[in-house]
Amino acid sequence: MSRLQADHLFKVFGRRPDEAVRRLAVGDTDREELRAEGTTAAVVDAGFTVEPGQIFVVMGLSGSGKSTLLRMLNGLLEPTAGRVLFDGRDLTALSPRDLRTVRSTKISMVFQHFALFPHRNVLENAAYGLEVQGVPRAERETRATEALELCGLAGWEKSWPDELSGGMQQRVGLARALATDADLLLMDESFSALDPLIRRDMQDQLLVLQQRLKKTIVFITHDLNEAMRLGDRIAVMRDGRIVQLGTAEDILVRPADDYVASFIQDVDRSRVLTASAVMTGGATPADCPDGCACRPVGPDTLVADLCAVAARAPHPVTVRDSDGSVLGVVPTERLLAVMGGLGARDAGDQADAKTDAKTGPKTGQADTEAGSKADTKAGSATGSMAATQPKKELTARA
Ligand SMILES: Nc1ncnc2c1ncn2[C@@H]1O[C@H](COP(=O)(O)OP(=O)(O)OP(=O)(O)O)[C@@H](O)[C@H]1O
Ligand SMILES: [Mg+2]
Repeated sequence: MSRLQADHLFKVFGRRPDEAVRRLAVGDTDREELRAEGTTAAVVDAGFTVEPGQIFVVMGLSGSGKSTLLRMLNGLLEPTAGRVLFDGRDLTALSPRDLRTVRSTKISMVFQHFALFPHRNVLENAAYGLEVQGVPRAERETRATEALELCGLAGWEKSWPDELSGGMQQRVGLARALATDADLLLMDESFSALDPLIRRDMQDQLLVLQQRLKKTIVFITHDLNEAMRLGDRIAVMRDGRIVQLGTAEDILVRPADDYVASFIQDVDRSRVLTASAVMTGGATPADCPDGCACRPVGPDTLVADLCAVAARAPHPVTVRDSDGSVLGVVPTERLLAVMGGLGARDAGDQADAKTDAKTGPKTGQADTEAGSKADTKAGSATGSMAATQPKKELTARA
C-alpha cells in the first residue's frame, strides 16, 4: 500500500468553488478565466502516490500551488474535491479529533523559516512536538537529544536559538520533526532561505539521514537542481496542475512539454543521468586493445563518471549488468549530445525504448501504478547520487 495517495485533488479559493471544480473537470474553463471572475484555482486535479521511504518532490514556480497541495496532504486545508489517503485512511473523512491525532503523531512539517521559540533552548525547541503529544519530560529529552545528534547538533542542546546560524536553526526544525518519530515529513521550501553552500550541506544531510531513517518525505521546492538531487520522484507543477510526474531522469530525458524543457536547461545533467539513459542497446561491444585503460561501467553509473571512463577509452564504453552481461554501449557522440543538452530527447529515445520494457510508462498522472515500478530505478539513481555526493559524516558546521 502506498503511504500517501492523492486522488483528483482540487483546491479552489473564492466564489462558488464547487462549480469551478465542475467546470475545470470538464475543461469548460481555465485558471485565467476563473481568476478574472475572482476565483483562484490553486490546485487542479492533482493525483499521485508516494511509497514508504520515498522522497517525493513537488517543484514549480511561485504561485503554482505547491504549498496548497502540501497543506491538503496533512489535512490543514480541506480539498474542494478529491481525497487524500494516508496509509489507506481517507484523511478527508476523518473526524477533526482523529485528524488532529494523525497530524500530531504521524506527520511532521518543516517550513522555510522555521520559527524557534526564542525563550526555549535548543533541546526544548527540538522536544516541542513531543511536548504537544504529552510525552513525559525524561523521554522527550532523550528523543530530542538523539534527533539533534542525527542533525549534527550534539553539544548545542543548552544553547539559545539566537546563538545559532540560520542553517543550524533550520536543523533544529528538522530535529523537531524527526524527534516525533512521524512516518511522513512534509517539508515546504525547508532549505530555500539558506545560502547556497549551507543549502547543499542540508541536502546532503537529508540524504544521509534518509538512508538511515527511511521516512516518507514530501519536499517542496522551486529549485530544479534541489529537486533532482533529492527526489526519487518529482512532480512538476504549473498553474495548479501537475504537468509531469517522474524520476529526475525521466524529466531530463523526456520533458513533457516546452515549459518543462525550458526549466531543465540549466540542470547539471552529468550528475543526474546514468549510463542506462544514454546507452544504445543492441550494439556490439568494441574489442578492447591490450592494456586498454577503460573499466567496466554499470547501468547506474553517473554520466559524470562515464565521461571520465570514455575520455580514457579508445572505443565506445560498454555498459554491463552486475553479472557481466552486456546491456549496451555508449558512443562518445551520445555522451556529448546529452552533456550539451541539445539532443537530450533524441539521445534518450533509443535508450528509452530499452528501459521502458523494464519500467513501463513513466509520465502523466495516470501512471501512478507504473510509478511504483519506476521507483526501483529512481531509488538506485538517488542512491548513486547519495553515494557520490553527500558527506560521510554529520558535522555541526553551518
Ligand atoms: N488562503 C488563500 N486564499 C486565497 N488564495 C490563496 C490562498 N492560499 C493560496 N492562494 C492562492 O493560490 C495560489 C497557489 O498558492 P500557493 O501558496 O499554493 O503557491 P506556491 O506554489 O506554494 O507558491 P510559493 O512558491 O510562492 O510559495 C496562488 O495564486 C495564491 O495566491
Ligand atoms: Mg509555497
